[in-house]
Amino acid sequence: MTGKAAYYITTPIYYVNDSPHIGHAYTSLACDVLARFMRLDGREVFFLTGTDEHGQKVEKSAAAAGRDPKEFVDEVSERFRALTELMNYSNDDFIRTTEERHIRSCQELWRRIAANKSPKGRDNIYLDTYGGWYSVRDEAFYGEGELIKGADGEKMAPSGAPVEWVEEPSYFFRLEDWRERLLEYYSGGAVAPVSRHNEVESFVKGELFDLSISRTSFSWGIPVPGDDAHIMYVWLDALTNYITAAGFPDERAENWDYWPADLHVIGKDIVRFHAVYWPAFLMSAGIPLPKRVYGHGFLNVEGAKMSKSLGNVLSPKDMVDEFGLDQLRYFLLREVPFGNDGSFSREQIINRINSDLANDLGNLAQRVLSMISKNCDAKIPDPGDEGPDSGLAVYSALSGAQALRDKLRAHAERQAFHDILEEVWKVIREANRCVDEDAPWALRKTDPAKMATVLYVLAETIRHVAILLQPFMPDSCGRMLDQLSVAEDARTFDDLASPLVPGMDLPKPEGVFPRFVEEEA
Ligand code: MSP
Repeated sequence: MTGKAAYYITTPIYYVNDSPHIGHAYTSLACDVLARFMRLDGREVFFLTGTDEHGQKVEKSAAAAGRDPKEFVDEVSERFRALTELMNYSNDDFIRTTEERHIRSCQELWRRIAANKSPKGRDNIYLDTYGGWYSVRDEAFYGEGELIKGADGEKMAPSGAPVEWVEEPSYFFRLEDWRERLLEYYSGGAVAPVSRHNEVESFVKGELFDLSISRTSFSWGIPVPGDDAHIMYVWLDALTNYITAAGFPDERAENWDYWPADLHVIGKDIVRFHAVYWPAFLMSAGIPLPKRVYGHGFLNVEGAKMSKSLGNVLSPKDMVDEFGLDQLRYFLLREVPFGNDGSFSREQIINRINSDLANDLGNLAQRVLSMISKNCDAKIPDPGDEGPDSGLAVYSALSGAQALRDKLRAHAERQAFHDILEEVWKVIREANRCVDEDAPWALRKTDPAKMATVLYVLAETIRHVAILLQPFMPDSCGRMLDQLSVAEDARTFDDLASPLVPGMDLPKPEGVFPRFVEEEA
């Protein structure tokens, strides 16, 4: 570690029962944007993603495919790794729960939990028999009272997943004894947004059952230390990935300085596991707790839940091919506030591509750069001695741009991506308005020095915008900065303070955000 402030951010690790879809891409994208943002803002970032490979659900999928589980998980995990390339994620590690480092880590975590007493002085782990409902799809145990009725009166998990009756010897975790400590943790604001905080708080205030943390009726998992007849419950195994990657159990490992994580980003479906079970396991093992858990909303398609049976599961690859990578990255975080559910429709993405990207940002860059190319000898113009008191409108856009960093930082701390983008777009729209007001094309004949000032201030505004939008659209913003001849090592948020140098040669301008035109049928 370099002495910069650390920032450790994680995605959920994805089940390898099937190929990744746009919902998986969405969570990881949010993490990627934050990881890039924090790196540019001077933090020492560790960004982790990976795959969750044990448990009954994965075992069953392998069997259904007629495959050996290890071979099967190797292949499906590779598809998630390919997703990180496709989507241009900047993850620093990709963890798989079948790796040796992870097995060691889980077993040591178990030993520590078992070696400690609960706040009520009881053993944290005890052996008993589990008799109750289990959903393989959710990999979750449910109490009778939590179940709902399906269309044919059958019992179902609250998520709508089928449940089956399970009865087998099991180790239990003394969850109930950790209630007060969990409530204290929530009172510090660790769970966001507030709707998720309320949900877990009321869950923990209610009747808390001890949690079954081992299984004996199948074998695709990590053996419980000292009792090979049991494998660990897949969620205990999976959650532990976050400390494995930080080097656990080697607390002298370099990566251990990243722990506790600054942020676990997850979907709203798995809040209970991350905000109740995970901190309880960690507390019982004497390990510090993650600083924040954010449960975002779900993406639906044209108003409907994505599902195989509806045939509306969106493939990230198809969407990138059709709309463009940065266009998709922008759209996913722009359209819907991150904590809310949102719907994807073709019409919405095409609208955003054409109005926000092509018309607002693309057009601003294109017209300013081509005016500079034509009228300023293809060099960064000289701003002269004019300043904000000159009465030129463009200075208002620039001062808006200069105020962005602090505002964006505050929004990034709250995972408010749509607020970040709205803030930047206010400046972009203002810059476009100022181009019209100052009309540099008219100044060309009457006052060329003033025209140079206007174009310089606009170029400087675009530089700010392009630097600040890099986390969302790394390639496109990189190309915009190339066109302004901004050196690759001068693109961090600290570099915002070093203005463009007049006289620098500029390459021939090229549009970065084309309009999306529907192909004729
Ligand atoms: N393996 C567990 C997580 C273990 S983390 C220690 C798991 N995996 S999963 O493959 O089912 O992925 C769940 C996550 O994918 C969700 O929490 C969410 O982040 C993301 N999404 C899956 N479908 C989604 C949508 N339709 N919309 C948005 N995100 C969704 O649960």
